Amino acid sequence: MCGIVAYIGKNTAYPIVVNGLKRLEYRGYDSAGIVLNSGSSFTLSKTKGKVSDLEEKAENVDKVSTIAMGHTRWATHGVPSDTNSHPHLSNDESIAIVHNGIIENYEPIKKMLTSKGFQFHSETDTEVLVNLIQYFRDTEKISLTEAVRYALNEAIGAYAIAVMEAENSNKIIVGRLSSPLAIGIGKDEFYVASDASPFVEFTKEALYLEDGEMATLELGKAIDIRKIVDNTKVIPAIQELQLTLEQIEKGGYDHFMLKEIYEQPKSIMDTMRGRILVNEGIIQMAGIWDNLEKFTNASRIIIVSCGTSWHAGLIGEYLIEDLARIPVEVEYASEFRYRNPIITDKDVVIAISQSGETADTLAALKMAKEKGAFIYGICNVVDSSIARLTDAGSYTHAGPEIGVASTKAFTAQVSILSMIALKLAKHTGKISNQQFHLLASELELIPEKVEKTLKLDEQIKEISKKFVNATNFLYLGRGYNFPVALEGALKLKEISYIHAEGYPAAEMKHGPIALIDENMPVVIIATKKGHYEKVVSNIQEIKSRKGIVIAVVTEGDEQVKGMADYLIEVPETSECFTPLVTSIPLQLLSYHIAVMRGANVDQPRNLAKSVTVE
Ligand code: F6R
Repeated sequence: MCGIVAYIGKNTAYPIVVNGLKRLEYRGYDSAGIVLNSGSSFTLSKTKGKVSDLEEKAENVDKVSTIAMGHTRWATHGVPSDTNSHPHLSNDESIAIVHNGIIENYEPIKKMLTSKGFQFHSETDTEVLVNLIQYFRDTEKISLTEAVRYALNEAIGAYAIAVMEAENSNKIIVGRLSSPLAIGIGKDEFYVASDASPFVEFTKEALYLEDGEMATLELGKAIDIRKIVDNTKVIPAIQELQLTLEQIEKGGYDHFMLKEIYEQPKSIMDTMRGRILVNEGIIQMAGIWDNLEKFTNASRIIIVSCGTSWHAGLIGEYLIEDLARIPVEVEYASEFRYRNPIITDKDVVIAISQSGETADTLAALKMAKEKGAFIYGICNVVDSSIARLTDAGSYTHAGPEIGVASTKAFTAQVSILSMIALKLAKHTGKISNQQFHLLASELELIPEKVEKTLKLDEQIKEISKKFVNATNFLYLGRGYNFPVALEGALKLKEISYIHAEGYPAAEMKHGPIALIDENMPVVIIATKKGHYEKVVSNIQEIKSRKGIVIAVVTEGDEQVKGMADYLIEVPETSECFTPLVTSIPLQLLSYHIAVMRGANVDQPRNLAKSVTVE
């Protein structure tokens, strides 16, 4: 995780880097720091806390430099503290570095450097790397660029780094392995960042460094990209950025999370746009169409992902098995990659990832690819590592998701999985033309139904008031809505810090029912289609133990109305698409409870948006 930003050019670097760091705070916010280069020495300012704390601390530092690098940290090695914050300087203070990733073999390198007289002030792996660069530069009498290359060839792990030298204020060197790094190219200036958001208003020309590449960004010269392993030259693949400033701003909402919840009618629509052709009986998805035989002949589809994306994967399992009758397994990427799974070239492995950078998902995919499986990606971030590794894929067009808690990316992922299931079902003849027509038309109506569901916001806010001081929550659902219950519980715990558990409703009596008393709020999804009567019985079981029932039901429901303490009525849709509607009130519930508890919903404690460490 962590975010890095660097600038070199003709403008004052401080505001560019600091504003850039604010945009990257979703990647971690344990500490922040900046180093400015005057041409002969560094000015360094860093602090535990957020970028706003850094601004206060750096109030009086000289900010005229036109070259600077900054960092916002999600702590891995060493507690969040001023000392462990980046940037880090080499022992002779001639080299500065910012780093996103983990140098796994930092211990033996540190030992070697210590034996050569180097001293370390922080607990970080990054300080080891910058001193290794100094060591190579001084002992081998080579340029900084070469020293960086030597050092990166020794480093095992993951990194996106930017490095500069105090005496040389017209050059920044960057490199990457398994952590993202974007370079913006302006007129006589370069921008560097973990994603393109810090420079979106300055230039539309960008390139993404590939794994194992480094680049020298020198004023007055064209970008020079090399392979780290052998210094061979790489032709830069410059592309035009599609990202806009508007997409990454709050647009009048109090929080990015709320903005993103409200964007869902549009993000689902954008994800489906041009892909559902109801009258032609077609779901147009090139990635699936070009590889149709791989999917339809697959011995099974394995979905790998983490967190919220894993919940979307579970819904995908229900959808694909239910509609297309192809066996699906859903795995936590972190478990899958280490449990020696049986994978053959008959398997299709689908990775679901908003960021496209999640380390475990990426590693699981690499392993599946090595074992011969066909690998498919469902990512939100264009050109992300997962998107580039996969054989084919479908982008969710949800737009940038900045709130750490995933909302619109989740519904976009479920929309993609719904279309894949429909396409495969139609092609294999598992559903009739008439069923296809019915389901595809229903799917097209989802954005409208989500829009209507959002109108429940005020009512949900009122309900939320009653639970601000709750200490526990249970979320229950069955069938398609079981993963929604898991997702609802995850949303609540990650942003409000209230303990919450999601369960299949029928499992309640095998244990969790013991927790139910008059203080236990139970959110239960009881929409009309899908085991309705059975869920109603579950509600009765909760009520007879005095639990507080918050029921999400289909509009017009009369039966649950008489039993539930709070009723949230959502528009009716086909059973298989209900998660796209029922997840909305649960997002709003967790949002309001968290806001009322004074929590920072966009940047919950200990979390980061892009988990690039395992
Ligand atoms: C929760 C959340 C996380 C992510 C998980 C995977 O709200 O956002 O659980 O879903 O870290 O991230 P991606 O989808 O980027 O691979």
